[in-house]
Amino acid sequence: MNPHQTPRINIAIDGPAGAGKSTVARMAARDLQYIYVDTGAMYRTVALKAMESGLTADDAVRVTELAERLDIRLIPGPEGQKVIADGEDVSSRIRSLEVNRQVSHFAKIEGVRNRMATLQRRMAKEKGVVMDGRDIGTHVLPDAELKVFLTASPRERALRRFKELGDNPGVTLEQLELDIADRDRIDQEREIAPLIRAKDAKLVDSTGRTAEEVASEIVEWGLAIARTISAEEK
Ligand code: DC
Repeated sequence: MNPHQTPRINIAIDGPAGAGKSTVARMAARDLQYIYVDTGAMYRTVALKAMESGLTADDAVRVTELAERLDIRLIPGPEGQKVIADGEDVSSRIRSLEVNRQVSHFAKIEGVRNRMATLQRRMAKEKGVVMDGRDIGTHVLPDAELKVFLTASPRERALRRFKELGDNPGVTLEQLELDIADRDRIDQEREIAPLIRAKDAKLVDSTGRTAEEVASEIVEWGLAIARTISAEEK
């Protein structure tokens, strides 16, 4: 079915680190001919730029100012999404171990979250967006027509991150599992927009499943919702 024969909807995909959100969200966006928005990349960009400016997450006021001034662009491309910050390609630097370790602390800052949520809502205004993150279904797009909460076992999530780091991971799998658990805890316990499953989100466990399988399930759900909306409009 041609996705453009149905009205466009917004799809929110939330879940912990390494659950496969970005791969699955990118595939679903490709099949539906929607725009993919990786909100984690936006928090990573703020963390990277703040660290490069010598700021720590304790300096909420200056980090917020930096986030408000920063021009972040997500550019879809054949080798994945490029992240451009103030005109500079930071796509690989935002995936460093140091950013992995620090980003949750920067993502706790209220001013940073407000700024990112404003930008994200702007991107989703025209519909036709698959957005992944931690608080998309609960906070950024509470009216998203389809919400998915994607999880996987901690070991499988650590293994996926380990593979992403390539031949010289610079960290053991066990350490990564600890880092991931730590990040989950910070994301779940923060006061503002913590990582929780929206009541109306579909729970999907990706352990032992391929990204293609999960993505096509999401595409089917999305098309079914879009068809229902289309029928109601007639
Ligand atoms: O999905 P990721 O690992 O690239 O996300 C990086 C960090 O950003 C993660 O520790 C939590 C934070 N984040 C967030 O707080 N809210 C979002 N919507 C997306 C990411």
